[in-house]
Amino acid sequence: MPNLYPLVRPVLRRLPAEAARELTLRALEAGLGRFMVDNAGEAPDPPILAQRLWGLDFSNPVGLAAGYDKDARVSEAMRRFGFGFVEIGTVTPRPQPGNSKPRVFRLEEDQAIVNRMGFNSGGLDAVIDRLSRRSPSGIVGVNLGKNRDTSDAVTDYAEGIRRAAGLADYLVVNISSPNTPGLRDLQRRANLESLLHPLLRAREESGCRVPLLVKIAPDLTLAERADIASVALDTGIDGLVVSNTTVDRPTGLISRNARQAGGLSGRPLFGPSTALLADMYRLTQGQLPLIGVGGVASASDAYAKIRAGACLVQLYTALVFSGPRLVSWIKKSLADLLRADGFASISEAVGSGHVGAAAARPTRSTERAA
Ligand SMILES: Cc1cc2nc3c(=O)[nH]c(=O)nc-3n(C[C@H](O)[C@H](O)[C@H](O)COP(=O)(O)O)c2cc1C
Repeated sequence: MPNLYPLVRPVLRRLPAEAARELTLRALEAGLGRFMVDNAGEAPDPPILAQRLWGLDFSNPVGLAAGYDKDARVSEAMRRFGFGFVEIGTVTPRPQPGNSKPRVFRLEEDQAIVNRMGFNSGGLDAVIDRLSRRSPSGIVGVNLGKNRDTSDAVTDYAEGIRRAAGLADYLVVNISSPNTPGLRDLQRRANLESLLHPLLRAREESGCRVPLLVKIAPDLTLAERADIASVALDTGIDGLVVSNTTVDRPTGLISRNARQAGGLSGRPLFGPSTALLADMYRLTQGQLPLIGVGGVASASDAYAKIRAGACLVQLYTALVFSGPRLVSWIKKSLADLLRADGFASISEAVGSGHVGAAAARPTRSTERAA
């Protein structure tokens, strides 16, 4: 099959970022994804990358981060690009348009994106409908949000949990988007406790013990990080997604769009999000599975996240700059890096970058019971 992506790429780059995203979504919906990668996308994953977490078998640790397939339109096509798992969403209970356009900006020179989409979402009805029609292959997580005009966050997240629990392989409570006013306040200790207890009850009531994770922001003080770690361990949630985009603007950004308001992702986020990941691994004593996300653009980036404590990694921005072949490249080179360091399996490498990290790996890989 010819790989047409090199021809398509210049066209996409000339379009505004959000129009390019919509065009790729439509192309994938039309089944054109198979023309965008070499056959490598469909090759079996090296066994060294396989891992069992929460009772789920991940054939590789590289996932698609939330925000590209917000409405569960193309999860199967993304799996065929070689992703080990796909996170759809953020989905809000009711449809909402998000912020006014333009609201996504490429920072070409910095290999970064600033977005202030503001949870544009087709709503749970549409997502549930698509998820219930999807083929059972592939691991799909559902990232849940709240509507902008909802004052009681618990109601919205609980609705998402109740309705998506039976259709998702895992759920993510997203309290870290910088583009919904007040959302990040839910990360504060007292707010987080008051949120998570009823959400865990909502999961119980759903009858599906689907893994429940929380996605956090990189812009947290050390005290806030410690609070989140202790609440995560005390409540018994199943993991953390580390991290969302940053409102910070690290020094050294050169693109004109760096001054746009919103969350920054891509290469400049790699350092801060990996430092947060290492903190969360240390603060949870390696007991909680962590998904590392932020600036992953190569196998060595993915490996650094794993050594900092991530069982799984995700990416989004690098896909925009490098295209779908990136997934196969990362997987192949990651397997080489693991072998070169003498690891027999990826789970042995999780957290291995920490001093005194012998056999440091998550112990709470909850088995999923229906
Ligand atoms: C355009 C865009 C939209 C995003 N939308 C969401 C979202 O709806 N929910 C969410 O949890 N994260 C969202 N994110 C954040 C990503 O999931 C990820 O956490 C962040 O971009 C860092 O990863 P990256 O550097 O690989 O892009 C979005 C990111 C981008 C660039």
